[in-house]
Amino acid sequence: MRMPKITFHLNGKVTETSYEPGMHFLEVLREECGIVSAKDGCAPEGTCGCCLVLINGSPALSCLRQPEQMQGHDVVTLRIAPRRNGADYVLPTVAALARLLSFLGDEFVGARPASGLQGML
Ligand code: FES
Repeated sequence: MRMPKITFHLNGKVTETSYEPGMHFLEVLREECGIVSAKDGCAPEGTCGCCLVLINGSPALSCLRQPEQMQGHDVVTLRIAPRRNGADYVLPTVAALARLLSFLGDEFVGARPASGLQGML
């Protein structure tokens, strides 16, 4: 069986990868592209936010995207902490929310940036 392929920009690099039919985009990121900062907390329900990435500059849940929808798009994942001994030290939901809050800007966050992280800290 021939596997479908997509080409997209991943963290600034043109990336071509194949995937098994039925995979959601989060699986492609993790299993085919080696991106472990996007986590699977509830896929494919789209309720936890662990798989948050930026798609064309906007926050999006990668578990709700089909790989074929991502052809030609720009995807940025969280790659904040270096990996040591195979462990991933990123707290993806907190890091993703912090990035999302910085994306939304002062109008949403208000005068106290940490207030946007209430409930997580
Ligand atoms: S894995 Fe939970 S929202 Fe995507």
